[in-house]
Amino acid sequence: MSRTVVLAYSGGLDTSVCVKWLADRGWRVVAFMANVGQGEPPAIAVKRAKAARAARVVVRDLRREFVTDFIWPALKAHAVYEGKYLLATALSRPLIAKHLVAVAHEMKAHAVAHGCTGKGNDQVRFEVTARILDPRLTVIAPVREWQFRSREEEIEYALRHRIPIDVSKRSPYSIDRNLWGTSIEAGALEDPWVEPPADTYRSIRSAERAASRPGYATIGFSQGVPTALNGTRCEAVKLVERLNALGALHGVGRYDLMESRVVGIKSREVYEAPAATILLEAHQELERLVLDRELLHVKQGLAATYAELVYSGLWFTPLKAALDAFVEETQRRVTGLVRVKLFKGTCQVVGRKSPHSLYRERLATYSAKDQFDQRAAEGFIKLFGLPYEGTRKDSDQ
Ligand code: ARG
Repeated sequence: MSRTVVLAYSGGLDTSVCVKWLADRGWRVVAFMANVGQGEPPAIAVKRAKAARAARVVVRDLRREFVTDFIWPALKAHAVYEGKYLLATALSRPLIAKHLVAVAHEMKAHAVAHGCTGKGNDQVRFEVTARILDPRLTVIAPVREWQFRSREEEIEYALRHRIPIDVSKRSPYSIDRNLWGTSIEAGALEDPWVEPPADTYRSIRSAERAASRPGYATIGFSQGVPTALNGTRCEAVKLVERLNALGALHGVGRYDLMESRVVGIKSREVYEAPAATILLEAHQELERLVLDRELLHVKQGLAATYAELVYSGLWFTPLKAALDAFVEETQRRVTGLVRVKLFKGTCQVVGRKSPHSLYRERLATYSAKDQFDQRAAEGFIKLFGLPYEGTRKDSDQ
């Protein structure tokens, strides 16, 4: 009896060829497809996998788990890699890997496989996660091993083996899409000086063609989790989908950046992340209203560390769990409403309120209602500056 491998299968050219490549090497191939909101119906992909000699295709809808167990924790932590990347692809990988391992257990498989190249981050994320969750599983990465030197050779191989691929639909880019955003690479984007051509962005309108009037949304948070939109409770997946559509209409959430990969190279990346952009702005603003200064600052300092863990595929690690526990503790007060205004590519918070607000108008006001004791400031400043008196000499200018 042949041994079983479970392959993380997307339905695209690479993973379809992976199925055949593994089957040719004597593996019984189970193709595992995760629905993380990429929006393509799996029917054609399933057919393709079967044509490539997959013994079974397992499809799972992971959208809800993706939002509640991966996206919300990252949102609460304000995870943004190198100040710009909202981590859509990076967040989906540990989830897919977790289920890949679970399916491997169900199928009594000896190995798991993925279709990532040897120079990206995704191979790191899949393999590190698989090894953390079950070090006994062998990991196979056909794309790192096989002999194809170009896409053309791969297409030729697929056609020769009657794997039904749609060559006409092929975009010049490598695209990875899920609920939290779309990652677009390669093609003309490989020259960092070249402006992304008009066909780069998949869903978000350009600022020039965005709606001519501003749009507004009011997001309700409870303990850090977005739970309502415009005054009505909204289920997690729906909420993200609706904000993606709204942001796209107003040109919100386009990114073009240079990125430092785990494997040491710099790459040029283009992203679309409308809902992520809106929710992050809103969540950050609510925290500014409800968290005391020291807690806010320490939390801000940890956000970059959290993002690096996510980016590097270290989701299921002790440090990540410890940071989650800290972040969770900070979210007790993060309940309230944030109103955002979207217009021609911008997303601005224009209103915020919370039962836990630390804002006191009677202390902040410059009107006659002022109750702030301004005379108390004098003594405060004397002692606040005291440690530094005498630390500079006259000559120090
Ligand atoms: N650079 C991004 C990341 O590492 C995006 C990867 C996108 N993958 C793809 N197949 N296009 O998270």
